[in-house]
Amino acid sequence: MSLDLQHKSTPPSLVLRQLSHQSSPVPIIQIMVASSDLIDFTSLGPSPRRDLNFQELTNFDGYRCETHHATTEDGYILGIHRIPLSDSCPSECAEREPIVYTHGLLLCGDDCILPGPGKSHCYNLADACYDMWVINNRGNRYSRNHTTLNPDKDSEFWNFSIDEMASLDMPAAIDYILEVTNKKQVIIVAHSQGSTISILMCAKRPEYNDKIKIGFAMSPVSSLYDAKMFGLGIMKALAKLLDGDNNKTHSEIFPHGGLGQAAAIGLCGFSEIQYPVCISILFASLGYEKFQITPDTMRAIPGHIPDGTSLKNFVHWGQIKKYGFCEFNHGPKGNLKKYNQEMPPQFNLNPVKVRWILLAGLQDNVADVKDAQRLASQLENSEFCVIEEENFGHLDFVYADTLTKYVTPQILLTLKTGKFTCNKYQ
Ligand SMILES: *[C@@H]1O[C@H](CO)[C@@H](O)[C@H](O)[C@H]1NC(C)=O
Ligand SMILES: *[C@@H]1O[C@H](CO)[C@@H](O)[C@H](O)[C@H]1NC(C)=O
Ligand SMILES: *[C@@H]1O[C@H](CO)[C@@H](O)[C@H](O)[C@H]1NC(C)=O
Repeated sequence: MSLDLQHKSTPPSLVLRQLSHQSSPVPIIQIMVASSDLIDFTSLGPSPRRDLNFQELTNFDGYRCETHHATTEDGYILGIHRIPLSDSCPSECAEREPIVYTHGLLLCGDDCILPGPGKSHCYNLADACYDMWVINNRGNRYSRNHTTLNPDKDSEFWNFSIDEMASLDMPAAIDYILEVTNKKQVIIVAHSQGSTISILMCAKRPEYNDKIKIGFAMSPVSSLYDAKMFGLGIMKALAKLLDGDNNKTHSEIFPHGGLGQAAAIGLCGFSEIQYPVCISILFASLGYEKFQITPDTMRAIPGHIPDGTSLKNFVHWGQIKKYGFCEFNHGPKGNLKKYNQEMPPQFNLNPVKVRWILLAGLQDNVADVKDAQRLASQLENSEFCVIEEENFGHLDFVYADTLTKYVTPQILLTLKTGKFTCNKYQ
């Protein structure tokens, strides 16, 4: 690995730099002062792209889009979006493996197009003539459907966590995509929890190692020993409260169009006063140092996050914060029955054979560089890279205006040459 920490000129705001090293919520007033010299407030107001769904967004942005559905072994119907090869792409591009984008916790596939044309993963990769597929995990707005269960009535629908996403959602989606495209392998570009479930799939369903050519894990989350995000404290407390009483966790949290969304729109709705409030909350929790997410993108974000998952999944992450990167904790009795031991076992990553490129950010409060490095050391065939921009945070991997500078070129160069060199762009 190469860790290149060059300290260049002093960043624009010393205030933000100091604040970012605290784990508590950031005093909003200081953010407001600091942001006022960085942001052009003349362009504010809700974005026309805020309330559009994936299909509508692609149409708005001038891209084609197909909507597909894949059904998992346990009956969940997943919404999958595809941005097919453009007609202007040379014919040899049709030989390329499809790329699959997988989203993070409380997020959805919209993330990979949210910053708009020329600025987002899925548009950039589609522009480079890759066949883009965007998966949505069970429970989010596009995958809130089941062959027999009703998400509004049956609590059993919400009986899942990353375990099921890894061992059931990912395989169903990948098999579906391979069948439609008539290919043998996909390439994975994953963010946050999307990395977690993609890597876990390789561990829990080893036969899928052969179906993945290479994976890029941006802000890969596994153990959370060094994670600074204060929201994790809430998850951990929840995990403690609900340990062993699993039925109580079978419910939906943060549904799209629900209270969380209303709060997001209320807080980030979008006026001059709201921009600093909104990003201070977002960035204090997830990590930031400099405003790399432009007002233009910020104005679109509140219509798309948070997106729903199960309380059980939330609790599982709390357990991971508490016990390490482990299987779901069913309490001592349940664990004895399920795992033959009182404590939930750590995930066994030995079966993971896929070549994983792990990309970490120095200001990431969720996937801390140390945790990400720990994950890399457990993966047989991985390369680890810390983005050289010293202000790169968790959401910068999907929303920052600098992602086209630091991330996209590295992915494209690696796909083109087969060789990955950390922070090499051409
Ligand atoms: C759920 O999936 C079924 C089968 O594909 C479909 O007919 C139905 O319209 C879907 N319901 C929703 C709410 O998406
Ligand atoms: C929840 O899912 C687990 C794992 O699939 C299963 O063992 C358990 O019986 C389910 N619980 C309920 C109440 O359906
Ligand atoms: C959880 O739900 C299952 C299925 O509905 C039920 O059989 C079981 O007794 C419940 N467990 C508890 C602890 O309430």
